[in-house]
Amino acid sequence: MTTADATEQAIADIPASVRGQVIPIVDFGSQYVQLIARRVREAGVFSMLVGPNITHEQLQALNPKGIILSGGPSSVYEDGAPTCDPRLFDLGVPVLGICYGMQIGCTLLGAEVKNAQAREYGGVKLHINDTADLMRGVPEHTTAWMSHGDQVNALPDEFVPLATTPTCPFAAVKHKTKPFYGVQFHPEVTHTPHGTDVLSNFLFHACGCDGSWKMADYLEHESNAIKERVGDSQVICGLSGGVDSSVVAAMLHRAIGKQLTCIFVDNGLLRKGERAMVENMFSDHFDMDLRVVDAEKEFLGDLAGISDPQEKRTRIGHRFIDVFKEASKDIDGVKFLAQGTLYPDVIESGHGYAGTAANIKLHHNVGGLPAELGFDLIEPLRNLFKDEVRQLGLVLGLPEQMVWRHPFPGPGLAVRVLGEVNKEQLDLLRDCDEILLEEIVANNLYRKTAQVFAVLLPVKAVGVMGDGRTHEQVVAIRAVESQDFMTADWARIPFDVLATISNRIINEVRGVNRVCYDISSKPPATIEWE
Ligand code: XMP
Repeated sequence: MTTADATEQAIADIPASVRGQVIPIVDFGSQYVQLIARRVREAGVFSMLVGPNITHEQLQALNPKGIILSGGPSSVYEDGAPTCDPRLFDLGVPVLGICYGMQIGCTLLGAEVKNAQAREYGGVKLHINDTADLMRGVPEHTTAWMSHGDQVNALPDEFVPLATTPTCPFAAVKHKTKPFYGVQFHPEVTHTPHGTDVLSNFLFHACGCDGSWKMADYLEHESNAIKERVGDSQVICGLSGGVDSSVVAAMLHRAIGKQLTCIFVDNGLLRKGERAMVENMFSDHFDMDLRVVDAEKEFLGDLAGISDPQEKRTRIGHRFIDVFKEASKDIDGVKFLAQGTLYPDVIESGHGYAGTAANIKLHHNVGGLPAELGFDLIEPLRNLFKDEVRQLGLVLGLPEQMVWRHPFPGPGLAVRVLGEVNKEQLDLLRDCDEILLEEIVANNLYRKTAQVFAVLLPVKAVGVMGDGRTHEQVVAIRAVESQDFMTADWARIPFDVLATISNRIINEVRGVNRVCYDISSKPPATIEWE
């Protein structure tokens, strides 16, 4: 898809319930751009990311309440630096430029931007000159988070300075006649204590947003749109038991009831009790048409004798598609396939705004089924961030423990039994994993960690039990903290909890005599071991 098509698509994706109340954020490549979008949504205002090359006509078609220009890594005075259509300031709606966004806005309106004598990174003292308007409610002396080498150096008379720092004379500005505000600091990060006030002042006082974006309303509108689109057709949904596909299934079920069929593939690589949990929840509790395909034999057959991690993944991926295809053949009248694509996946899968930070792929977690299956896609989460999906899950009545589940990789335990995979090794790992999770939950550590799992190593170690020498397997425990899974740190699980986990695994799981704790961060290690 070209960037222009992506922008058209993004405009078409805007939920009807929020049309006329949208704040587009022009993405100049800031590492914080998604955070800006979330902060705006947290304030009850629907926001979306658009590329700097969005046309004037497209912006008009959006009918925005206001516009935010994000930060970015470029310098406005460099050749090829991203810019935006200057007619943006004549749309009659307020514009807030943040960091690079302020510099580009100021440049287009006649100011000069230069490399600063003193760069500012981190927390700085901020002095507010004008405590009305954009800075309403912000104390005269406060702090703000900065991350810039360039700054506005000379400001024409048409501007009013609103704030300064010891080395940045124009830390916040306002234009006298155009509806433009600029802040050199980052109001979206929590290290700017009054950042939320600044954003709220922009959204509610300057733009007059009504703050009515609520998950329950969103659900209502999206459900109606899905109903209309689906008509009398049938929809299938691949259910994995993870948060995203579960929320998609619950949402579709609420909208179209029995026109939805879910397919859950038991590949024999699942955690203990996973299949029963999914059956209980969706078949019994939600009364969905759930088809469970037992394909353990096929998957384990494909994996026999294979120890290369990439080859394992490839074989599992291919088999999954075959099994899914076969299962969907039996369902009459299927026109649509529902998938749990999230907003970060949409942004990151090549929309290429400004060739920006947002282009770092969320790699293999996207997990889409191929187009060759021939279904039209329904992606009801494509406007939402992960935490909004969890919120939606709660509104839909999914239990907390489902909504807050840690991610689980598509290839499942096959990438956690290192080397060759077979049922015996998988069963051993399932037992260790179950104990580990029981202890993590019992010690209130589940919500404090991003992912916790056990890994079965393909080596044997010597031990002693009773009077005898043992020669058994080693299990590694991996527990990480992470915001986005692109980087992660190992979780500082208390020693006594680790001690209980180790004791229990060694005493209760026959075949394991040693437990290690993985203390590697990502990078350079990855979260999974394979
Ligand atoms: P890594 O190991 O690359 O993992 O640090 C980052 C996140 O992605 C998950 N992961 C996968 N998910 N298919 C998936 O659906 C895969 O092949 C896969 N490999 C890793 C991993 O669990 C972590 O959340």
